[in-house]
Amino acid sequence: MKRIGVLTSGGDAPGMNAAIRAVVRTGAAKGIEVIGVRRGYAGMMDGEFETLGPRSVANTVQRGGTILLTARCKAFYTPEGRAIGASKLKEAGIEGLVVIGGDGSFHGAHYLELEHDIKSVGVPGTIDNDLYGTDYTIGYDTAVNTALSAIDRIRDTAASHERLFFIEVMGRHAGFIALDVGIAGGAEEILIPERPESLEQVIEIVRESAKKGKTSSIIIVAEGYEGGGLKVMDTVSKATGLDARVSILGHVQRGGSPTASDRVLASRLGNAAVIALLDGKSDVMVGIHAGEVVHVPLHETWEKKKDVSLEMRELAKTLAM
Ligand code: F6P
Repeated sequence: MKRIGVLTSGGDAPGMNAAIRAVVRTGAAKGIEVIGVRRGYAGMMDGEFETLGPRSVANTVQRGGTILLTARCKAFYTPEGRAIGASKLKEAGIEGLVVIGGDGSFHGAHYLELEHDIKSVGVPGTIDNDLYGTDYTIGYDTAVNTALSAIDRIRDTAASHERLFFIEVMGRHAGFIALDVGIAGGAEEILIPERPESLEQVIEIVRESAKKGKTSSIIIVAEGYEGGGLKVMDTVSKATGLDARVSILGHVQRGGSPTASDRVLASRLGNAAVIALLDGKSDVMVGIHAGEVVHVPLHETWEKKKDVSLEMRELAKTLAM
């Protein structure tokens, strides 16, 4: 293999630039040319390619977002869209591809190989941490820390006004961010889609909490839980008559400079992706498990489910007394 492409796709995540940098510099070290594909699969279909050398990625390791830009590309879910993308890659002499993104991006890479024999390796980049086969995804640690610092601030107001706060965090259909920030932020309750308490139970929990003498409470709501924070706040405050507020943290969780942990993870996985391609591996994701780099078939990353830890759920309940 002499020329490979790299792209970011789906939601941006802090650390994606560190991963791009690792791909480009590992490629340079191994004597292969690295082509950046701009705007994910949408840019691939338009042939938006640029050669990246070691200097192209200077001063990017600490930057959030993605220098290659990203997109959610509906056309790439169709065989016609993928055929256009594949022909652009072939015209440019790109023999292999590193795809940095989440499960939607990995679907694209999987079918590109199946239908057009483009060898691809996935690098898990999403704040949601919802990919099977890797303990952590790039961007998750930063998003958790960003959300946590917002929650700490909201707690000041909750305590001063003796209020009940519902704080909605991202995570799509998964509760990983919610569980971590809930434990680290000392939340009274954490509502996640994986093991949902009913809204009736939540109302009961809030009533019990008031009886115990708690004058303020923080309840973390994963966006995938029962219609999100707004709905939960509305139902609970109507039922209890308590003065409640909702705060939806939203896209603030996606931005910002990556933590050290995300930069190191991204550097390791970007490097591992290029080595995997050169070793003849493809249709796999490089992930991290128990501190070691692992290779997981792409289809397993969405077919198998990474579950939240039961032990963490129990811990959160015990500590919220
Ligand atoms: O996958 C990352 C993520 O931020 C999710 O947590 C969230 O549900 C979604 O993307 C939001 O997507 P968009 O920025 O396209 O609205």
